[in-house]
Amino acid sequence: MRAALAAAAEDAIIYDLDGIGRQYSALCAELPGVAIRFAMKACPVGEVLAHLAHLGSGFDAAGPQEVVEALRTGAAPESIHYGNTVKSDRNIAEAYRLGVRDFATDSIEDVAAIAEHAPGSRVFCRIATTGDGALWGLSHKFGCSPDDAVRVLGAARATGLVPSGLSVHVGSQQMTAEAWFEAIETLAALVETLNRHGIVPDRINLGGGLPALGVLDRHGRPLEPPLDKMFTVIREGMERLRAVNAGPLDFLLEPGRHLVADHGAIRAHTVRLTSRHRLDGTREDWLYLSCGKFNGLYEMDQLQYRLEFPTHPDGQFVNAVVAGPTCDSDDAYAQDGMVRVPRTIASGDPVWVHSCGAYAAAYATQGFNGFSPLPYTCIGGRAPDGEGA
Ligand SMILES: Cc1ncc(COP(=O)(O)O)c(C=O)c1O
Repeated sequence: MRAALAAAAEDAIIYDLDGIGRQYSALCAELPGVAIRFAMKACPVGEVLAHLAHLGSGFDAAGPQEVVEALRTGAAPESIHYGNTVKSDRNIAEAYRLGVRDFATDSIEDVAAIAEHAPGSRVFCRIATTGDGALWGLSHKFGCSPDDAVRVLGAARATGLVPSGLSVHVGSQQMTAEAWFEAIETLAALVETLNRHGIVPDRINLGGGLPALGVLDRHGRPLEPPLDKMFTVIREGMERLRAVNAGPLDFLLEPGRHLVADHGAIRAHTVRLTSRHRLDGTREDWLYLSCGKFNGLYEMDQLQYRLEFPTHPDGQFVNAVVAGPTCDSDDAYAQDGMVRVPRTIASGDPVWVHSCGAYAAAYATQGFNGFSPLPYTCIGGRAPDGEGA
């Protein structure tokens, strides 16, 4: 990655396919037997998707367009599910036409639509979580209560669908193992209730939420998620769920950022380092970069990406607020999260932005303020015939 960043003469996002592959293999080793379905929204880049498919990953698609992209990798329709609880009749019918038979749901209304437009399909009901402990909670828009889930899966059965299971998402960039523990406790109680209603799930989808490791919080402090503990809690939780269910249980995971975040980086450049006085008379230094919230660093208001200034490894530094190039005040790191920046950095000097492989390409706007999405390149990766991907 460092060689690719150094070789880039212009701004670009670079994805390290071998790094993503290693991350995928490490996850499979931590959670043996769990089927991985990559949450495509985190990195809908053809080469990344194809590489993951080649390694055996399935896909969590949010609509028919993502289903088409997933199928383009050669993935079998059975390894793709429609993981979005929000879907129109038309989108359900289109996904069904494309071969998808596996749908997330969280409401009676959605179940009725799936029964009509994707008859006989399997549905799994998403349970709401608090989102506590995550940088992005995902707690209100999706998921229903355990009581609702009994009704939703009962309605699925009554309308000829297969009530195949349950799902949760503990929130994105989840920082605590307790969130998994609590989600699994809720699932275990619900599995018992479902069994009493004659519904025996055959699958639990433990969602996304596993963290990136190389990012900082919005004040610039390293985020150190207890990944080993999370895996232990998940492994023990799977055993517990298997023990309470009346039939065999398979497990799915739909990770997004954990697979790609730390294996993507941006070669950006310095727009300018400036020094200004605020209205209260205090002085503030600002480093403006060529990319920001609207062209690659969408999450920069909630976290900090690590920056490297390859042409200025030593020398004098100033503490500056980092911001993107647009005329939008959201396009900046938090103002109390100063970053050490070389005092003599000049307009045009390269800046490397690390661990920004998740939610970078997909969230880039189509030229907000005239700043185009960055081009991307992929390094590494082996195609099935042994050629470089
Ligand atoms: C349904 C679903 N699954 C998985 C993910 C991936 O989440 P993460 O990137 O936190 O792993 C998301 C992201 O929002 C999602 O909505």
